[in-house]
Amino acid sequence: MHPRLAALAALRLTDPDAKMAATRELAARVVSDSSVPLATPVRAPGDDLGVPGRPERPLRVSATAVERRSPFTTEGRAALVHAICHIEFNAVNLALDATWRYDGLPEAYYRDWLRVADEEAQHFTMLRDHLRTLGHDYGDFPGHDGLWSMCEKTKDDAIARMALVPRTLEARGLDATPLIQAKLRRANAPDALAAVAILDVILRDEVGHVAIGNRWYRWLCEREGIDPVAHYRVLYRLHDAPRLRAPFNLEARALAGFTDEELRDLEPADSPPRR
Ligand SMILES: [Fe+2]
Ligand SMILES: [Fe+2]
Repeated sequence: MHPRLAALAALRLTDPDAKMAATRELAARVVSDSSVPLATPVRAPGDDLGVPGRPERPLRVSATAVERRSPFTTEGRAALVHAICHIEFNAVNLALDATWRYDGLPEAYYRDWLRVADEEAQHFTMLRDHLRTLGHDYGDFPGHDGLWSMCEKTKDDAIARMALVPRTLEARGLDATPLIQAKLRRANAPDALAAVAILDVILRDEVGHVAIGNRWYRWLCEREGIDPVAHYRVLYRLHDAPRLRAPFNLEARALAGFTDEELRDLEPADSPPRR
């Protein structure tokens, strides 16, 4: 089977364990083997039926319906870990989708996204295992659908996908992770500190995912003769991307390849200085 159709098959799987196993197996077989071609076209009419595969639980709710969780109770920490676990489940789907969906890109693009899918599967598994130590499992709490709804909106435009999923939503994860870690450190329970350590691994990998988004966003803009900074502002408004909120993790964002101009653009000139 064409590896990108194997990515589609994994994307359609509804059982989380089966999806993670299929993703990891595919990535192990293909990512570092340059003799396996990925760039030959695979798309066919009606092939997005059953995309994305996801289990019946967690119940999907709007982002505003997800309650705030206290890090000071085990139940609150379980809900918090579940929320991140759900993001990682969606992140596996979005990386598989980015691998499968867009014909006509270079070999390296597909390999990059399959590597991301593999890392997202590891993140999901680490968090799910941790959640089980708290007496819960994936599906026990509701989850919101923000990440996948942006995939839907950008399904016909690879430039918009790169701009708004890795470079916007995953980049927001770079900003949010240190704040979540600080909250967990304040709780100071062994399971909270174990979650902080898992988030260290995730943060490191996520810098790489945002960098891959930057790499291919710029490559596509160059191919189309588009100015990446000006076009980002257009896409951001067109697809009603969620507002970027300070404090920003400028160090991680710079490591992920945002330019000084893009980092300055994050903060409107009339916003109060940050402390
Ligand atoms: Fe992740
Ligand atoms: Fe990611």
